[in-house]
Amino acid sequence: MRLDKYLATVGVGSRKEVKILCRKQMVRVNGEIVRDSDADIDENNDTVTVDGAEVVWKAHHYYMLNKPAGVVSSTREGKSVTVLDILAGETLTGEPVIYGGQEPAANARSLSPVGRLDKDTTGLLILTDDGPLIHELLSPKKHVEKEYIVGLRDRISDADMKHLEDGVDIGDEEPTLPAKVFRETDSAGKCMQPAGEADANASAYIPADEIHIVLHEGRFHQVKRMLGAVGNEVLALKRIRMGNLKLDANLQEGRYRELTDEDLELLKGSRSEMEDLTDRQVYETSIGPVCMSKKEYADYLDALEMQKK
Ligand code: URA
Repeated sequence: MRLDKYLATVGVGSRKEVKILCRKQMVRVNGEIVRDSDADIDENNDTVTVDGAEVVWKAHHYYMLNKPAGVVSSTREGKSVTVLDILAGETLTGEPVIYGGQEPAANARSLSPVGRLDKDTTGLLILTDDGPLIHELLSPKKHVEKEYIVGLRDRISDADMKHLEDGVDIGDEEPTLPAKVFRETDSAGKCMQPAGEADANASAYIPADEIHIVLHEGRFHQVKRMLGAVGNEVLALKRIRMGNLKLDANLQEGRYRELTDEDLELLKGSRSEMEDLTDRQVYETSIGPVCMSKKEYADYLDALEMQKK
């Protein structure tokens, strides 16, 4: 890999900045000064130092952001501040974007959000430059769980909660997949801030009820459309979990942090059991052809083995 790409990837600076560091003889590879920033290095075996400090090679970067309302998840240039602007500490036109005075993230502009949250939705957003992981987490086949806290305009009945769990018609070709819908037992009277531009003093915008909803899919405005389908309205929406990874409760809105190795392990192990429930096919068994999931078939084979022993 080219030295300038390597140093830019780990966040030492842009390629232009790396060129200057090389000219100033501040970069060494295996102890030797390297003046050409386009020199080739072996990222897995070479030791690179910048101004005496050893560089730790990281192919990918992973961040967790507690997305504030009023910021868009899209990465395209527009009028609104984007989630990437938060991590870069500035807009694409150089206006400062400061939430809590954090250091800009290394390589912020090469990150992508894992899925989108609406402008007025808050909470957990993962940002990374690991394309295969993004694909894996968003693949409709993987059914990675997304958990939201939903502030509602009206108190919701048990029947409507059941209806949401079973799947509702939101105007798409297929009804929504089965979901989990429940109340936090201790959430009574602990409503979230109203979403969007609403005047926080207007009682019409104070949620009358609060539920958790866990989805295995990610359709456009899905939670809002589901609640609309049962005659209610979402006044506040916050994502608190993606797969096995929960939003860090210490991360205030607008703040971000790198994922730890433990976080990453949780995130990578996020494939849902639902995949097995939906990917059913016919397998030959001792009692003839039976339709079952891969997991059920594996269990069946294990049981056969046990019988033989
Ligand atoms: N569902 C919605 O309606 N909005 C979001 O931002 C996420 C899920």
